[in-house]
Amino acid sequence: NHYIVIMAGGVGSRFWPVSRSNYPKQFIDILGTGQTLIQQTFNRFKEICPPENIYFVTNESYRSLIKEQIPEAINDNILGEPVMRNTAPCIAYACHKIAKKNPDACIVVAPSDHLILQEEAFKDAIRESLKLTEANNFLVTLGIVPSRPDTGYGYIQHTSTKVGENFYKVKTFTEKPDLDLAKTFIASGDFLWNAGIFVWNATTILKAFEKHLPEVNEIFAEGKIFLNTSKEQDFIKTAYTRCKNISIDYGVMEKAENVYVRPSDFGWSDLGTWASVYEVKKEKDYVGNVVIDSNKVIMYDSANCIVRTPTDKLVVLQGLDGYIVVESNNVLMICKKSEEQEVKQIVADIKQKY
Ligand code: GDD
Ligand code: MG
Repeated sequence: NHYIVIMAGGVGSRFWPVSRSNYPKQFIDILGTGQTLIQQTFNRFKEICPPENIYFVTNESYRSLIKEQIPEAINDNILGEPVMRNTAPCIAYACHKIAKKNPDACIVVAPSDHLILQEEAFKDAIRESLKLTEANNFLVTLGIVPSRPDTGYGYIQHTSTKVGENFYKVKTFTEKPDLDLAKTFIASGDFLWNAGIFVWNATTILKAFEKHLPEVNEIFAEGKIFLNTSKEQDFIKTAYTRCKNISIDYGVMEKAENVYVRPSDFGWSDLGTWASVYEVKKEKDYVGNVVIDSNKVIMYDSANCIVRTPTDKLVVLQGLDGYIVVESNNVLMICKKSEEQEVKQIVADIKQKY
């Protein structure tokens, strides 16, 4: 009765020029480990349930990338979206489809592009959550102890009401607060980051959609007859154009009452930027430089840099401190690590010009 839904539709422009809209972050071996992030994600979940129960939701244009990178993926389990509508429609689609097949399903919904260093601790957290949701109508999310007032995450405040060994009833869920609010949350000490990994049974999540996002839910509930039939793809094409663009966090998690969190520590990072890749990379030289993939990088008087250039290219750095040097697809970008949030805007500008 256990199912996994891997969300793989994001674009991730901050890893430019390595990630491109036709080749986003989840399909890249961003850390140079020999496996792309989606391959790592699939391999982790394969130990929890068989490939028959693992689903992918992605843009139709990435279907071939999934097949290529994960030959074990079941073709019918790759759900293609005609347009991007954020995570709420993606989750509604997958959960309705799985519920039609197995109304007693317990479903894990997870991003395809996160790093998890401690696999065993992660699997324990998932197995415990699945077990809890078999018998309870809870929306479970995994929470991470925050380390900075990052405005890109959801913040979870929990009560002291404990269920089982490791779960707490959630008091408030605040998606992407502004900086002042994030600072208040961090200072108070009783907030966790939402890792974006959810566990629930099919009945509970569909009820939550019905209550909090009826306009999205109705589309898939009405079209349920087409799911798991030859008419599914045609139905999805029109269904998605009618869906509004909203994330599960804003649409459901902020509003629902039956949310529980499992504080977790499994070496999690959502690898949002080059600087976060720099942080998680253990292999640094004695002045803090990280080199990924490339094997011909020579550095003079340079420290705290992250370099990722084509393997055989001879790259020489002199006098750089704290820089990102990335070359891919015939584009070379050199950017100050502390100002990398500019990359998003730069990519937008470049798209206009080239
Ligand atoms: N199929 C599909 N379709 N997948 C999508 C879509 C879509 O339209 N949009 C996003 N995704 C996938 C992304 O590829 C990613 O794996 C996951 O869903 C989450 O989307 P993000 O766009 O990365 O969300 P976020 O980072 O802004 O925020 C979420 O994650 C944070 C933790 O990393 C929220 O859940 C936050 O609360 C959370 O803290
Ligand atoms: Mg993200």
